[in-house]
Amino acid sequence: MSPEMSSNLHTMGQQHGRRSWAEPWKIKMVEPLKVTTREQRLAALDESGWNTFLIKSQDVYIDLLTDSGTSAMSDRQWAGIMLGDEAYAGSVNFYHLEAAIQRYYGYRHIVPTHQGRGAEHLISQVLIKPGHHIPGNMYFTTTREHQEMAGGTFHDVIIDIAHDSQAYHPFKGNIDVDKLKALIAEVGADKIPYVSLAGTVNMAGGQPVSMANVREIREVCEPLGIRVMLDATRMVENALFIQEREEGYADKSIAEILFEFCSYTDGAWMSAKKDNLVNIGGWLAVNDWDTFEELRNLVVVFEGLHTYGGLAGRDMEALAIGIEEAVQDEHVRSRVGQVRYLGELLEQWNIPVVKPIGGHAVFLDARAFYPHLPQDLFPGQTLAAQLYLDSGIRSMERGIVSAGRDHVTGDHKRPKLELTRLTIPRRVYTQAHMDVVAESVKACYDAASEVKGLEMVYEPKYLRFFQARFRPL
Ligand code: F0G
Repeated sequence: MSPEMSSNLHTMGQQHGRRSWAEPWKIKMVEPLKVTTREQRLAALDESGWNTFLIKSQDVYIDLLTDSGTSAMSDRQWAGIMLGDEAYAGSVNFYHLEAAIQRYYGYRHIVPTHQGRGAEHLISQVLIKPGHHIPGNMYFTTTREHQEMAGGTFHDVIIDIAHDSQAYHPFKGNIDVDKLKALIAEVGADKIPYVSLAGTVNMAGGQPVSMANVREIREVCEPLGIRVMLDATRMVENALFIQEREEGYADKSIAEILFEFCSYTDGAWMSAKKDNLVNIGGWLAVNDWDTFEELRNLVVVFEGLHTYGGLAGRDMEALAIGIEEAVQDEHVRSRVGQVRYLGELLEQWNIPVVKPIGGHAVFLDARAFYPHLPQDLFPGQTLAAQLYLDSGIRSMERGIVSAGRDHVTGDHKRPKLELTRLTIPRRVYTQAHMDVVAESVKACYDAASEVKGLEMVYEPKYLRFFQARFRPL
């Protein structure tokens, strides 16, 4: 076992000296949840093509579809909303946002965007030319889509063990530096505009990257003129894993670790809807002036003026405050601690989950749930639908449907990891909700052999997982 803080499950087992963590906040306002019957849920599934993205949120009990834009804002953030300076140009809230990013992430030049993919679009259009190659630590759906739409080819250079759901590695999100060097030797450094490095790799199960790894990537890339660009979406959570697992960081704060990590990169794009604790927002940041100038110009075409980038002034204020709240050690510990609580409960019941438990979600191993289902019958999608049917809990497929099709052969891409993600919003649900979730997962696991899989009956061209429709077999 790694030396990290245990979840409350461990402390609960001890007779004496028990010390649990608890959320570093109290609840000031509540939103009622709706409980449905099995018949209602079956009807909702039929109506939504057995795709959890198409279910109405009013028909959901505990919503673990995503941690994106689903966080609860603090009273300070809501107070910030009232201080929105809704000027078209030069809003004071933009300058607050710029200062917060400079202070905690350390980059020089900032471009706000409406959300993460707006930032991905701009950076891809500015840096990628047709024929370019982009190495990265496992793909993310929207990130790769924008890289490919700009004419690039994505290459997964994550360490092999990341594709094995059961193998333990403290930094399963690391880039395999030999794979990176081999790609550089094959295509040439001038064909690689940047390395696409994500903190806590979403598709790998929320697995972190070590400080040693980013330092080494920097050493390889800098002399060759290859940029290191960070997907900072869940970098704060990555910083906690470094604090817990990497030698020399136990006494450093989350803010210090975040700042150091970013210092080895040339810039970042951000979906502020995650770590940064807002319901909408994103940003891009770079150190180099020339790239900034191009980004600042392009943002005007696609998002809005460079001092608002598709956001209202009030959104930028809530975001600036969210950035500061997000790097508080107590906050990050309880956030990841809650995810770990759910994961360890499932592990105790021998339910197959991706190990170790990641930062933002517990990933169920749908292949191991349904060993009788071939990947073409969409085990991950099936499990998400079964969970909803059992209890009204909403999760998300992260397997063959999310991976999409090969642009050349037209066949499904077949990722090794066929997962269903239980994603925990920040500061929203309690430990009791986690118990209810775990019990529903257990019920689905016990009934797994009766499940027959799904057939896809409608498939959109881009990012098909959002809108595809299925029929149970
Ligand atoms: N990068 C990562 C690692 C992400 O997880 C996401 C979004 C994005 C970029 C794109 O940001 O949604 O603000 O446009 N992930 C969400 C999820 C959708 O559910 O994992 P966005």
